[in-house]
Amino acid sequence: MRFAWVVLLASAAFGQEEVKNPHTSPSDVAAGAKIFRSHCAECHGFAGEGGRAPKLTTGVFFHGGTDADLFRNITDGIPGTAMPSVFFSQDQVWQIVAYVRSLSTGNARPPLGDAQRGAQLFHQQKCTGCHLARGEGGVRGPDLSMIGSQRSLEYLRQAILEPGAKVLREYWVARITTENGSKYAGFVLNEDTHYVQLLDFSHGLETLPKREFREFHIEKSSVMPSYGGILSAKDADDLVAYLWSLQRRKGDER
Ligand code: HEC
Ligand code: HEC
Repeated sequence: MRFAWVVLLASAAFGQEEVKNPHTSPSDVAAGAKIFRSHCAECHGFAGEGGRAPKLTTGVFFHGGTDADLFRNITDGIPGTAMPSVFFSQDQVWQIVAYVRSLSTGNARPPLGDAQRGAQLFHQQKCTGCHLARGEGGVRGPDLSMIGSQRSLEYLRQAILEPGAKVLREYWVARITTENGSKYAGFVLNEDTHYVQLLDFSHGLETLPKREFREFHIEKSSVMPSYGGILSAKDADDLVAYLWSLQRRKGDER
């Protein structure tokens, strides 16, 4: 087995023969799914729908989409990113590759809406007041410039219609009142025993000494307004289509 793999790799290097996953049976996919849920889901989502790490369901892989690319990226991780290397046998890695592939079959369906109209709505609805999306925009919410590569369609829809449903820790809002009565509200960038570093909504970056706090509490709800009652179903579809079109491109840094 090991010998065969080396030969395959060597020939792939010369571009003569494509490396093919030798483990693609339904039981391999099931075994891969099991490993995925325990080792990958915390970042990529339970079924690869995306979360802290990109979704793996579109059939498009930024770091290479051949079997050999997937095998390499899963075995070695992706240097300079949060994607770790793993300690599974080669057979197990192939089973994971089989599972990851199974996530994209028929799943790369394009969104329903009209992305161009969605782009107009994005400005009209003042989403840019808080979000950056390839151009001008605010920093009161996440940068959405590559959100289409990171999240599933369902997630995007929910993020717009019910923003409170899943709020990442870095977007919890800290409210601080100091001894002299100054008030702050913003995202906590850093906190240690003595200081809180805050991205304050009106004052920008502030480093505040805790001993001067009279009040300090954290709200785990989103500052993003809910658009559930404001947007029509078509508006929501169009916005989702626009966000989906914001895919990561070669040369993008993160
Ligand atoms: C600690 C978080 C984390 C864990 C755990 C993790 N990944 Fe990742 N993974 C990432 C991040 C972040 C990226 C994106 C790297 C980048 O491009 O910046 C990534 C990228 C990838 C890619 C490349 C996607 C592409 O578009 O080319 C694949 C495939 C992948 N991961 C599969 C897995 C598998 C399978 C596992 C479990 C064995 C796993 N990952 C575990 C964080 C993680
Ligand atoms: C008052 C500021 C504000 C406005 C206005 C706003 N957002 Fe948000 N948005 C946020 C914050 C903060 C978060 C992160 C917390 C959360 O997930 O709810 C967020 C999260 C999101 C996410 C999820 C991002 C991720 O990484 O998971 C999407 C998608 C999104 N917003 C789209 C929109 C769209 C589309 C509009 C306009 C219709 C909009 N937002 C208007 C502040 C805002």
